[in-house]
Amino acid sequence: MSRWIIVSNRLPFSLAGSPDKKTQKIKQSSGGLVTAINGIKTKNEIRWIGSLAPGINENHIKNFKSKKNVSFSYPVISEELYDAYYNGFCNDVLWPLLHYETDLIQYKKENYDAYVKVNRIFAQHIAKVAKKNDVIWINDFHLFMTPQFIKEINPSLKVGFFLHVPFPSSELYRELPCRKELLEALLYSDLIGFHDFSYLRHLSSAAYNVLGYESSLLDIETPRQSVKLGVYPVSIDTQDFMNKAVSKKTSSIIEEYQLKKGRQRKILGVDRLDYSKGIPHKLKAFKKFLEDNPQMVGKVQLTQIAVPSRTEVPEYIKLRHEVERLVSEINGKFSKINYIPVKYIFDSVSVFELMALYRSSDVLFITSKRDGMNLVCLEYIVAQDARNPGVVLLSEYAGASSTLSHATLINPMNIGETANKLGQALNQSLSERKKNHQVMLDYLKGYTATDWARAFITHLERDVNQRVSSALCLDKAEERKKIIKKNKNGSKVLLLDFDGTLSPIQEKPDQVKLSIKIRRLLKSLSEENETEVVIVTGRDKNFIVKQLKGLKVYIACEHGASFYDYKNNKWRQLAASKNKPWLKDAKRIFEQYERRTPNSFVEEKEFALCWHYRQSPNDFAEFQARKLLLDLGITLAHEPVTVSRGKKIVEVKSLEANKGYFTDWFLERYVDSQAKIIAMGDDRTDEDMFKALERRGETIKIGHSESSYAKFYLSDQDLVEKFLEELV
Ligand code: UDP
Ligand code: G6P
Repeated sequence: MSRWIIVSNRLPFSLAGSPDKKTQKIKQSSGGLVTAINGIKTKNEIRWIGSLAPGINENHIKNFKSKKNVSFSYPVISEELYDAYYNGFCNDVLWPLLHYETDLIQYKKENYDAYVKVNRIFAQHIAKVAKKNDVIWINDFHLFMTPQFIKEINPSLKVGFFLHVPFPSSELYRELPCRKELLEALLYSDLIGFHDFSYLRHLSSAAYNVLGYESSLLDIETPRQSVKLGVYPVSIDTQDFMNKAVSKKTSSIIEEYQLKKGRQRKILGVDRLDYSKGIPHKLKAFKKFLEDNPQMVGKVQLTQIAVPSRTEVPEYIKLRHEVERLVSEINGKFSKINYIPVKYIFDSVSVFELMALYRSSDVLFITSKRDGMNLVCLEYIVAQDARNPGVVLLSEYAGASSTLSHATLINPMNIGETANKLGQALNQSLSERKKNHQVMLDYLKGYTATDWARAFITHLERDVNQRVSSALCLDKAEERKKIIKKNKNGSKVLLLDFDGTLSPIQEKPDQVKLSIKIRRLLKSLSEENETEVVIVTGRDKNFIVKQLKGLKVYIACEHGASFYDYKNNKWRQLAASKNKPWLKDAKRIFEQYERRTPNSFVEEKEFALCWHYRQSPNDFAEFQARKLLLDLGITLAHEPVTVSRGKKIVEVKSLEANKGYFTDWFLERYVDSQAKIIAMGDDRTDEDMFKALERRGETIKIGHSESSYAKFYLSDQDLVEKFLEELV
């Protein structure tokens, strides 16, 4: 069983009570991350790494009640450095950015430097603690750069990263001055997990817009590896909360404080006092509700728990003033001798007090402007009495809105509508409440914090890195000799790419010419008794036929859309149709980019359209290429084409024009099962061919890439000639 190294900014405890040391006690800290990780039930040994909250010492840690299989350790960080990292960068830059509040960002280079330093210190500590088969699981935005620093110390460690907050639209992310460094460092992770698919999508776009890394649905290709992405909405320890909700302790709190549901209707808000939680919006909507429904004055009360958070950050201090001003405004306006409309508590409460509040309120009111997930609403559901459950009024901007199918969704920005929905929630019928509650409770019974953690770790342990290349280098003659010897006897098929493999890449594609030497080698190989040579190229028929004139080789051009059988002197069209309904749209878009980008040009092939920008100003053309790819992706989303980026080209081609499809087709018809196969290629399109040959033959990538399907690589195109020579 692997050991899990769970890493978060802070260990899950802090000090409570008066600063007089004798009365201070250690208690669990608030926040969704701590609740989620604490909720995991597993027999795996866990080492939790995080920094220590001020004032905590070894003795406090010993007194903290934790599960038997969990131990703690911490890197040592000076107070001053921690302040610059945590308050100056995490809370003043990253938190507002990730929660769409870019106006609140206070970027200072020295705080970013502190962030880098602390991330490095974390990585050093992790690398010291981690053993060979441990799984490293880094949590949240405080540690975006730790994956890179760990891999630099020990590349063999498996590193997963889970983001507990939203990832914003890449248009916002672009505004961050250190956007490249941060993202690049994060993309050293093997797996990145999110609560919601939209966050995943935004990160993929940022990787593309900021770093030029392409992604398919669930992975991002970096020059080092393929980073896996996944959606794993967090959950809670359902059974534990259910037990606590019906415990004697909870009942006695309900009794003692006379909280039982009764004539006065109760609305509950539980949030860290954070601007992302939209507490002012909640208060304004409640006020509007009382104004619109004067008959409810005296009959409904909002209890707002505002847990103190990041109290040293000016924006949080400002928020506290705003919230407290609004509370007194409402209370001043609507209070009576025996009635206070808003009960406001600026403190955290014990878990049993929280259960008592959950169980005794009619509506849970969540108005987050942005919220990674929001665990409070999950806890509220499991704490309800199923015979008379409350209603969850939930902001559509909380990640939980994607998982809680029967919550009442609100847009907290619309105060009037929110006030109306509050009224509807208070009036929801018992049968409707019961039905909604049951569905959501069943979901939470079947999907707990443990399921969340298992899904993430299982993916990290089993599936990740399959594509990270363990390709062997063939640059040394003795290594090449081994595979040549292995494939010497019997029939052989060579599948060879043209540009970048048989011929070096040139500034202008029409300058490319097969060298006399390579031509001679191809001739010798193709005339060998049991050897067949197939040139598999993206080039069109006209060009490639001229280059290969007089050689007895098969030709697959336009990525296999057309095939030439030299034995029968016949061309076959393998792509289903010459009818290309997408061509007109694609051409229109390509021509715009051709006009805008100096020295770029469009090449029209029979089954593809290709934009070349090898001779254009580099940075500008790369920028345009990324935009073109996005435009094409959107415009041609429903067309039978693939849109791809190669070496200084962007290409749209018929779906069937694919070297992988061609390889399968050719092997089935032209190659007997005993034949040995050697395939060589340098480009992304050759990866389709390598993938098709995953269980068969020798595949050789020209140029090293960590994320290739090929089993071998030659680091330079020059070496292809040597290899063919030795093969002859
Ligand atoms: N919580 C707490 N003490 C309190 C109030 C709340 O420990 O006085 C817990 C609550 O039970 C929940 C967490 O804090 O588990 C808040 O998590 P959520 O995901 O809702 O928001 P976050 O604080 O992570 O943004
Ligand atoms: C959110 C973040 C957590 C953080 C928590 C409390 O849930 O995602 O990473 O721990 O808020 O914030 P704090 O700054 O007190 O750790």
